[in-house]
Amino acid sequence: MTAPVIIGPATLYCGDAYSIRPVIGRVDVDVMDPPYDFDNSGGGEFRKARGASDKIVEEGLDQGFDHLIINPLFCSSVFVFCHNDQLPKLLPYLAGSFHRSVVLFWQKPNPSPMANRHYLADTEPFIHAWNKGSHPQGGHHDKHRFILSGSTPSKLYKHSTVKPDAVMDKIMRNANGETICDPFMGTGSTGVAAIKAGKRFYGIEHNEAHFATAVRRITAAWEATEGLAA
Ligand SMILES: C[S@@+](CC[C@H](N)C(=O)[O-])C[C@H]1O[C@@H](n2cnc3c(N)ncnc32)[C@H](O)[C@@H]1O
Repeated sequence: MTAPVIIGPATLYCGDAYSIRPVIGRVDVDVMDPPYDFDNSGGGEFRKARGASDKIVEEGLDQGFDHLIINPLFCSSVFVFCHNDQLPKLLPYLAGSFHRSVVLFWQKPNPSPMANRHYLADTEPFIHAWNKGSHPQGGHHDKHRFILSGSTPSKLYKHSTVKPDAVMDKIMRNANGETICDPFMGTGSTGVAAIKAGKRFYGIEHNEAHFATAVRRITAAWEATEGLAA
């Protein structure tokens, strides 16, 4: 394992989530957007205009992930993004490890036009599961299960599945605890939101280009936070 990059309260590892996550140990909340598991073929005419779908296949982000990385020994609660097709397997797994769980949704203002004999991906689920004492935080407004989000800056960060700031900021308002880990951090969206919320963050990403983007984004978020404190 190479030495982590440390930026204020963030510790970032470039490497494999399955070997590094146990080394980080227990945190309050795991927030993860792991590789999805769905049939990303087809798309016909629409596909030509949507390079993101090819990029998802190219980077193996349609191949799923090992659920065992979600471990109640590692965290008191977890947020997991997933494709709709993953819900039937993921929900029973989480029910076996956590006290309660809920499916939340965020809306994409500019969804892929590919339906592929399914529904459009204009809303995406994410699950929050928690053990006793780690229930959702936040005021009345923060307890909404649905969030209308802003744009996803995928082009800016050269990554096909960047999560919008508004979604990540909501998760930080609902997260119960001060330490957050994202084992599949991509371009660092969770880390940016964690820093803005004043939390300690641990992130893992194996793709060097995405890791470099995460370092850049989290450094900027930390510098902005420090500036506010000055
Ligand atoms: C769905 S993307 C996360 C995108 C992130 N939410 C963002 O806003 O940028 C999943 C990320 O996990 C990374 N990944 C996949 N398998 C991994 C592994 N075994 N170890 C570390 N990172 C991994 C991929 O390179 C990808 O960037």
